[in-house]
Amino acid sequence: MRPLIVIGNWKMNGSLANNEDWIKVVCKGMEQGMPAGRKFAVCAPAPYLAQCNALIQKCSLAFMSLGAQDVSAHASGAFTGEASASMLRELGCNYVIVGHSERRHMHHETDGLIAEKALQVLDQGMTPVICIGESADERNSGRAVEVVRGQIAKQVAVLQDRLADCLIAYEPVWAIGTGKVASAQLAQDMHRAIRLQLAEFDEDVASHVGILYGGSVKPDNAVELFAMPDIDGGLIGGASLNPQDFLAICQS
Ligand code: 13P
Repeated sequence: MRPLIVIGNWKMNGSLANNEDWIKVVCKGMEQGMPAGRKFAVCAPAPYLAQCNALIQKCSLAFMSLGAQDVSAHASGAFTGEASASMLRELGCNYVIVGHSERRHMHHETDGLIAEKALQVLDQGMTPVICIGESADERNSGRAVEVVRGQIAKQVAVLQDRLADCLIAYEPVWAIGTGKVASAQLAQDMHRAIRLQLAEFDEDVASHVGILYGGSVKPDNAVELFAMPDIDGGLIGGASLNPQDFLAICQS
């Protein structure tokens, strides 16, 4: 049985004061009770990871953890501005988002680079959250499944059965930050297609891997999305900035 996992992605938002308030509100809310067997994390901007780790440690909820939004594809060396997976691990991260569409588009990240990043994360004992998803043009031209299959194929080729220790986040680009959420059925159909493709490689990997949905998830649409058999949780952008909305989604 795969656990439901809800991960907040703050993107480039936050401040020392806001982060502290957010974590206090969320921890207090979670202490009052969360559905059993679920996992939660927040992916903070890199400069705030140490602060957020200390605050999350204080609330000591086994099911709440910290994540990062990106990582270097290299272990160490002359890579100015980058942070390695071992550094993120030292800062208390359990999850690292790799290949978010904003990084694919703005920083020209390729599927190959993303798989290399996922390997670094796995080698440090953390869970990569590998983002995939088609653009509006790709969907409108009927190529959504083909595009997503191509992205998955590259991850399978590099990661092989280590994919069982990854999370996949299906985030259709047209749904990110637009308020245009994929219908629960559309998301379920794509998640199913992804799982079937993974089963072509290895049934065990396909049944283990958590597939999260991301793109305009809000408290009022999370229940329907999370009820789908192949949707194992969500990667939440805008709505994760408001601690009450994040809590409501975690409870969905
Ligand atoms: P929104 O929830 O703001 O659409 O963002 C989704 C996302 O990109 C999470 O990684």
